[in-house]
Amino acid sequence: MKLVVAIIRPERLTAVLESLYRADVRGLTVSKVQGHGGETEHVETYRGTTVKMDLQQKVRLEIGVSEHFVQPTIDAIVAGARTGDVGDGKIFVLPVERIVRIRTGETDTSAVTPVAAD
Ligand SMILES: Nc1ncnc2c1ncn2[C@@H]1O[C@H](COP(=O)(O)OP(=O)(O)OP(=O)(O)O)[C@@H](O)[C@H]1O
Ligand SMILES: [Mg+2]
Repeated sequence: MKLVVAIIRPERLTAVLESLYRADVRGLTVSKVQGHGGETEHVETYRGTTVKMDLQQKVRLEIGVSEHFVQPTIDAIVAGARTGDVGDGKIFVLPVERIVRIRTGETDTSAVTPVAAD
């Protein structure tokens, strides 16, 4: 099992959600975040030039998936989020030790997107 964490442009969220739905990925968390992606702005100050670490509005997606869904999830995020310009975002894939569906007590792969999604 993996937790796929993606930082994307807010304006690409709808396209990414559609793309994930088409890939049968169910169950995700969305947060508004601020991030820095390497681009710096040079700001003039009275003592000389300083570099400002700009923070951009981004959206963070967290998706717990079974191994079967790792690559389809990544592909769906890239398909929905990519514009080709700098700042399109990043995907991190983290190992997950345990998942519990609170209602049923189901654990691990039974607790995330089933291979035959409804
Ligand atoms: N190494 C990182 N660790 C954590 N978050 C990151 C990292 N790199 C990027 N992010 C997050 O992703 C957002 C978008 O990053 P960005 O797309 O600029 O990455 P990049 O690697 O610089 O790619 P690009 O060359 O397309 O700009 C950042 O605002 C930040 O929230
Ligand atoms: Mg960048």
